[in-house]
Amino acid sequence: MTAAPQHIVIGGGSGFIGSVLTEALRARGDRVTWISRQAGEERITWEQLEREGLPVCDVVVNFAGQHILDMSRRWTESYREEVIQSRIRTTKTLVDAINASETPPEAFISTAGKCFYGTKELAEGEAPPELDEYSEPMGMDFPAELVSQWEAAAEGVDTDKVRHIKLRIGVVLGAIERKSYLMRFWRIGKARGFLPIIRLPFCLGLGAVIGKGTQIFPWIHIDDMVGIILHVIDDENTVGRYNAVSPNAVTNRDFTKAFSKYLRRPIIWSVPEWLVKAVVGEERSSILLRGQLVRPRRTVESGYNFKYPLIDGAMADLVKITI
Ligand SMILES: NC(=O)c1ccc[n+]([C@@H]2O[C@H](COP(=O)([O-])OP(=O)(O)OC[C@H]3O[C@@H](n4cnc5c(N)ncnc54)[C@H](OP(=O)(O)O)[C@@H]3O)[C@@H](O)[C@H]2O)c1
Repeated sequence: MTAAPQHIVIGGGSGFIGSVLTEALRARGDRVTWISRQAGEERITWEQLEREGLPVCDVVVNFAGQHILDMSRRWTESYREEVIQSRIRTTKTLVDAINASETPPEAFISTAGKCFYGTKELAEGEAPPELDEYSEPMGMDFPAELVSQWEAAAEGVDTDKVRHIKLRIGVVLGAIERKSYLMRFWRIGKARGFLPIIRLPFCLGLGAVIGKGTQIFPWIHIDDMVGIILHVIDDENTVGRYNAVSPNAVTNRDFTKAFSKYLRRPIIWSVPEWLVKAVVGEERSSILLRGQLVRPRRTVESGYNFKYPLIDGAMADLVKITI
């Protein structure tokens, strides 16, 4: 039996995850409206949402937020504030609009990051703690503080009226294309997500492990990211917290090896911690230098089957080389 088409409203739908989700929803016949800072076709603006209220819809998803690792910008106080406020403001605006709606949606999917679990220094040879949807943060840093404020903003939604699904997202890996030209630099084509952020050294043949390389890298293939959202939209028994990470997190070293294998570029060195801190700033450096062994326990228990549970299969699918 085919489900009736639904209307899904997506805050920050123009971004990396939102645009792939939009394509998947439209392909199955659903209608999608984005909430955006820019007016346009099949979009409403945040100001319009505040003024006119939430359009009649079945599901609301929120992805809006200034990218925390925008490498084109220096980490300043105003950038830091924008990263925080863009998430809290948009989430609160959506929560208020949902609560005020006379025809509230069936479900609200709020998102946040795996950075919720924080970081801690591990002793030499100490195994990282396993963290699932029931775990508390293992230590606070700036990204963990950010996520906890962001999640708190979503908690105001009236759960008597709306099914609230709360996703904690790992590092999302999207498709990346390597174009190669004889006698010229290897170039990596247009791509979105985490892989383009680390592409430069690989382009130059200087692929690198980050820091010690033993930090855990909780990743997820973009198809599974979108798959989990479709799963929680469709299964009305899903409610509460779900981790959107692959069941098999790897170390940064194993992730880098898999990336370089499919790019067919060598790993030449390890970027020292001081250099990472100098480039991205101390506060954001834990995103790259420390990790969390996050498990998607409730996600798997809810019946979601990962299409790409292993990093090798994910990289084989995502990294394409064209001559
Ligand atoms: N991608 C990942 O690996 C990952 C991992 C963990 C968590 N997350 C979280 O998941 C969400 C979606 O990720 P994504 O990769 O799709 O993000 P993205 O590509 O950076 O897109 C986010 C969207 O948010 C809107 N936005 C940006 N700055 C804003 C601001 N200052 N105020 C209001 N809206 C703003 C933009 O939409 P408009 O330009 O249309 O307004 C943008 O398209 C983000 O909040 C991110 O933190 C992502």
